[in-house]
Amino acid sequence: MTIIPTIPLHSGSIPLIGFGTWRLRGHECRRAVELALECGYRHIDTAAAYGNQAAVGEALGAGIAPRSDVFLTTKVAPDRLRHDDLLAAAEEALRELSTETIDLLLVHWPNADAPMAETFAAMGKLLDQGAIRNCGVSNFTAGRLAEAVALGVAPVSVNQVEYHPHLNQRRLHEACRGLGVALSSYSPFAKGRIPLDGRLAEVGARYGRSTHQVALRWLFQRGIPAIPKAASAEHIRENLGVTEWALSEEDFAVVNNLGHWDRLLPWEGSGPTDQADNG
Ligand SMILES: NC(=O)c1ccc[n+]([C@@H]2O[C@H](COP(=O)([O-])OP(=O)(O)OC[C@H]3O[C@@H](n4cnc5c(N)ncnc54)[C@H](OP(=O)(O)O)[C@@H]3O)[C@@H](O)[C@H]2O)c1
Repeated sequence: MTIIPTIPLHSGSIPLIGFGTWRLRGHECRRAVELALECGYRHIDTAAAYGNQAAVGEALGAGIAPRSDVFLTTKVAPDRLRHDDLLAAAEEALRELSTETIDLLLVHWPNADAPMAETFAAMGKLLDQGAIRNCGVSNFTAGRLAEAVALGVAPVSVNQVEYHPHLNQRRLHEACRGLGVALSSYSPFAKGRIPLDGRLAEVGARYGRSTHQVALRWLFQRGIPAIPKAASAEHIRENLGVTEWALSEEDFAVVNNLGHWDRLLPWEGSGPTDQADNG
């Protein structure tokens, strides 16, 4: 069984490779998560907005891995960030996921209409009750993240953001480090654009690896937890192979310096209503 390295959080630690579930639903989701667990993934990423928490819960309850060995992330929708709404959303998530605790509960997208002090007061309560082990955010700019941390109400463990070789958010990463927050990467394959990059293909060819494998390995060597999504068994297995090889210093630098700035999902300033198609 592949042992996946982890990085420490405020409570426990997060595996460097996890399994993304956006767009997986029902039976397909359950099967994919079960296969991921069988292969050795020990981090599953879901969200209330994905409509698949129950399927993820069923897979977690299938007896493939002890629940305590699996790091479970879910996210609260931006229209549920007021204090009582967030508590109710967390309760629903726990029920749907059939679990007593969530390892990481994220604010899925910021919402300027919900005072952050309320959001994090509720997160603090959930931490105190043991309903969640870590709280965090997603799609937060450095400024917003600094505001959340400055509240000092609940420790912010993670900022999950779009991050791949075509969107190397070095400054945001540094800001996260400075604030004691781990940055984690979603959409590590940039939605189909990674395989089209000839420079990544050239690097991969030197190791007999695909562009996808190069992108994941680059994140791995940067120490950034990534959550690739895959429905196919071949992809699920292949992505776990990230631990088996390494990019040389020169090739690591090639990927670091691709010089792309290609954001797929909207960022600061886009309201929740623009985000119907966002993970
Ligand atoms: N916090 C947020 O706002 C947010 C936003 C977006 C995503 N996310 C999270 O991040 C996860 C991953 O991002 P994503 O779903 O946008 O996309 P992604 O993981 O970057 O890419 C998924 C696509 O890559 C394909 N793929 C996977 N492994 C492959 C491989 N080894 N070789 C070739 N193709 C491969 C998949 O194909 P198959 O499915 O056919 O195997 C799928 O089409 C999501 O599922 C979700 O959990 C979070």
